[in-house]
Amino acid sequence: MAGHVALSQALSYARDLKCAYEVARARERELVQANDRLRRGYEQSLQFAVDLKKTYRRLQRAIFQSLLGLANALEAKDIYTRGHSVRVAGLARQIALRAGLPHSAAETVAQAALLHDIGKIGVPEGILRKPGPLTAEEWEIMRRHPVTGAQIVAPLEFFDEGAVILRHHHERLDGSGYPDGLTGDGIPLGARVVAVADVFDALTSGRPYRASFSTADAIAMLHDEAGCTLDQRLVALCVDVVGAGDGPDAIGASAQ
Ligand SMILES: [Fe+2]
Repeated sequence: MAGHVALSQALSYARDLKCAYEVARARERELVQANDRLRRGYEQSLQFAVDLKKTYRRLQRAIFQSLLGLANALEAKDIYTRGHSVRVAGLARQIALRAGLPHSAAETVAQAALLHDIGKIGVPEGILRKPGPLTAEEWEIMRRHPVTGAQIVAPLEFFDEGAVILRHHHERLDGSGYPDGLTGDGIPLGARVVAVADVFDALTSGRPYRASFSTADAIAMLHDEAGCTLDQRLVALCVDVVGAGDGPDAIGASAQ
């Protein structure tokens, strides 16, 4: 009789153990499934983040392209500045590459050159197209365009180095430039490159109040400014790019 009771109890324990085991197994499966759901959710979030970043970049590039269109439209209205930024960009890229900048940095310089005068959108047309010398007040307004340009491109995170170039493309080695009166190597290299290309193209382009200078004349004028207002090494590289030439005495002229 006692043996029968013991066997019955043992069977009961065994059933309880089996139940407990099955409950534990079921919980384990639920945990694995919950873990899988969490992992899939995490992977989806990561993918969303990547997609969002791509969309954000595309949006920034689209804004950049719109700004390029705006800069082109601004230039195209004036026969004297038409194509200026594209030419400055091409020359600045070549100078930057010869100066040893990596390809990506040279591209940033070229892109900044394309937009270097976009801040002129804030300058009244009466000043932009004035067929004679500007008054002190008009110069004051004209000299704001590098800061305005830098502010326009400031929201483009991928273009922060370009914004610096826009701000400083009228700085001069001797501190006579604007907006910050930076000197020497204190002027960012990209801005010094754009300055040389900008001055060269301004000289070789006509203005309402003067004809364009020949390449040889412009080179002679660049040489005069080398080491004073323009970076000497970059002037030499610019001359290498556009081709050496002999010219008459320098005539005081520069990009606005
Ligand atoms: Fe400018």
